[in-house]
Amino acid sequence: MPETTGGSSPIPFSRTYIYGNEIDFIQKTIETGRLSGPGPQSEACERQIRETVSAPWAAVVPSCTAALEMAALLIGLAPGDEVIMPSFTFVSTATSVVLRGAIPVFADIDPVTLNLCPDAAAAAITPRTKAIFVVHYAGVVADMDRLGKLATEHGLAIVEDAAQAYGAKRGGRPAGSYGAAAGFSFHGTKNIGAGEGGALVVNDPALVERAAILRDKGTDRGKFLRGEVDAYSWQDVGSSQIVSELTAAFLHAQLLQADAIRSERLALWQGYQDALREAEGAGHFTLPHPPADAEHNGHIFFLMLPDASARRDLSAHLARNGITASPHYVPLHTAPAGRRFGRTSGSLTMTDRAGECLLRLPLWNGLGDDLHRVTGAVLSWCADRRAAA
Ligand SMILES: Cc1ncc(COP(=O)(O)O)c(C=O)c1O
Repeated sequence: MPETTGGSSPIPFSRTYIYGNEIDFIQKTIETGRLSGPGPQSEACERQIRETVSAPWAAVVPSCTAALEMAALLIGLAPGDEVIMPSFTFVSTATSVVLRGAIPVFADIDPVTLNLCPDAAAAAITPRTKAIFVVHYAGVVADMDRLGKLATEHGLAIVEDAAQAYGAKRGGRPAGSYGAAAGFSFHGTKNIGAGEGGALVVNDPALVERAAILRDKGTDRGKFLRGEVDAYSWQDVGSSQIVSELTAAFLHAQLLQADAIRSERLALWQGYQDALREAEGAGHFTLPHPPADAEHNGHIFFLMLPDASARRDLSAHLARNGITASPHYVPLHTAPAGRRFGRTSGSLTMTDRAGECLLRLPLWNGLGDDLHRVTGAVLSWCADRRAAA
């Protein structure tokens, strides 16, 4: 059926917003005549990230995927090691581990936060477990008190996949500050976006020097640039995980607006909550309910529908109204490569449910009053369902 938008413009699922000095910073960077990184723009981003995360070391890298791959190398994952992680996550959480020959062990998620369930993680530990890769879904920091305790008790490393969690905290402590290392994403769909981009944060001081070398083709070029050695040379394995100063300039401008970006998103997130609470009470879906001590960043607003057919139906209804809503992950344990490279631990009931029933509503800076068009369309679907029942 052709989509109708009632004469209004379509509402995309996500959109990168120009929030401050992006164009100005890019212009000034071009004028310096030096676009390769790392340079002053990357360094400014890194200062900002270190401050936000309270971390000793951060590097701007091309993606969160790159950051996770570096983290997997840094914690010394080796073939046959097992890494516990959620299956309801993006592929990079698992591919970063699989690239080292390690085995993702998928454990179920908590029904409220959709983050790795500490009990399921505990049950997944074997003598071969080396690490836990924790995801902070929707910018809600996972239960790091319990997961951290579990890791300490069993001598496991923690890596945070904080792709969605820049600027989020739990109990006052920032996402990205818990693990030996953490990855953030600045992909265009994230709260702070540079088209493509990410950051690696390293909290374990013993890993910092090696992180800088891995990032820069296995060399100690950083020391050379700081005047600490006369020439730089090949020191270790490595790759080129550096971004252009043009990307860093855009990112820098966005990072400077991080608080304003988060406040606007939280207001939109709350707008959805307020408008849809009654429909939740009537049983049409459930809304997100982050724990009271989670200071999330408004990255995602999702509805959990009663079943896959209701999700399909609502999604089609929104599309007819010119609104793009989006499911999220196909659980990794059900995907061809997930079955080939990983294994499950226990039942993944909540993971399967999130894979089938979760629908994300448009949420981006600049959405503004169009939020009411979205909630209006959701509520008209609820009314149709009530009438048909
Ligand atoms: C949980 C999670 N991890 C990793 C990534 C990958 O981020 P990037 O695109 O920056 O590599 C994403 C991207 O959506 C994500 O949601």
